[in-house]
Amino acid sequence: MIHKLLGKILDVARRRPASRHSAPKTERPAAQSEPDPIALPDCQVTFVDHDKTIAVHRGKTVLHAIIRGGIPLPHECGGLASCGECHVSSITGDVSDRREIETRILKILGRPLDGRLACQTLVFGAVSVTIAGQA
Ligand code: FES
Repeated sequence: MIHKLLGKILDVARRRPASRHSAPKTERPAAQSEPDPIALPDCQVTFVDHDKTIAVHRGKTVLHAIIRGGIPLPHECGGLASCGECHVSSITGDVSDRREIETRILKILGRPLDGRLACQTLVFGAVSVTIAGQA
């Protein structure tokens, strides 16, 4: 008797449509700017005054390369362009253009305007960074 009842319950459960809490899984398209996590980093960032070259994925920040390379540079705000501590004296090579927020923060903090904020500078190819001379 109990087996018949359990069998009927299982039959009903198998026929029920998926509950509304288990939505069908859909493939999430990868964002265009996200690097392929399997691909090797393809951009070389050379830190002139540390004699070190770090490979990063295209589109990562110079601050990412600094952290990855274990180069000591404060970055209290964590890359939000508000502390100015990631200021470096020069970045040359294939990088993003200066953003207005960089100029604004450097002016507010009284830092030299010819430098860059590492957290706001994106790497697109071979890059050379000089950290020395930070205020
Ligand atoms: S980490 Fe704070 S401004 Fe770049």
